[in-house]
Amino acid sequence: MDVFETIAARYSVRGYKRDPVNDETVQRVLEAARQAPTAANRQPFRLVVVHTRGNEEQLSRVYNRAWFVQAPLVIGVVAVPGEAWRRSDDKPYDEVDATIAMDHLVLAATSLGLGTCWIAAFDPAAAREVLGLPDEVEPIAFTPLGYPDKEPTRTSRRPLNELVKYERW
Ligand SMILES: Cc1cc2nc3c(=O)[nH]c(=O)nc-3n(C[C@H](O)[C@H](O)[C@H](O)COP(=O)(O)O)c2cc1C
Repeated sequence: MDVFETIAARYSVRGYKRDPVNDETVQRVLEAARQAPTAANRQPFRLVVVHTRGNEEQLSRVYNRAWFVQAPLVIGVVAVPGEAWRRSDDKPYDEVDATIAMDHLVLAATSLGLGTCWIAAFDPAAAREVLGLPDEVEPIAFTPLGYPDKEPTRTSRRPLNELVKYERW
């Protein structure tokens, strides 16, 4: 799959097989996130990989959907503001960096036939408790990682001419 095919193939997978994902495949997906660009190469993010089996009850506190705990793995991306590059007006870029890393992970997973779904509507307090996150880091998003058992429901996008402006706003 080239990058355009991968982008076209990705969709939010909200139903997973319980089949395991082998370690080598998981490592390839994590490696793709590691290769993501970050502002000033600060790499202010961490990935928390959680095995679902046996942790269903705890993970359901983080995001309460049956499909969230169907896949063998759940991955959380966590930003580390203290490591972030800051713009001249002090805007920190750790959340941007964490998001790029997650998107690398999502696209790599897609190209290997795996399903993912970006999840931002999780309970942040539960995420902190279940993942044991220290106060100085910020959970940004979660995704299950596993083989899809649902066909894509195609979603629409705004036309390009609504999204792109040339030369000036
Ligand atoms: C930052 C972000 C947060 C999202 N949070 C959720 C979520 O909490 N739950 C969910 O089911 N889908 C979530 N989604 C998935 C979007 O609903 C989905 O990407 C969008 O509807 C387009 O559909 P597609 O991913 O199948 O192309 C999120 C997507 C993004 C990018």
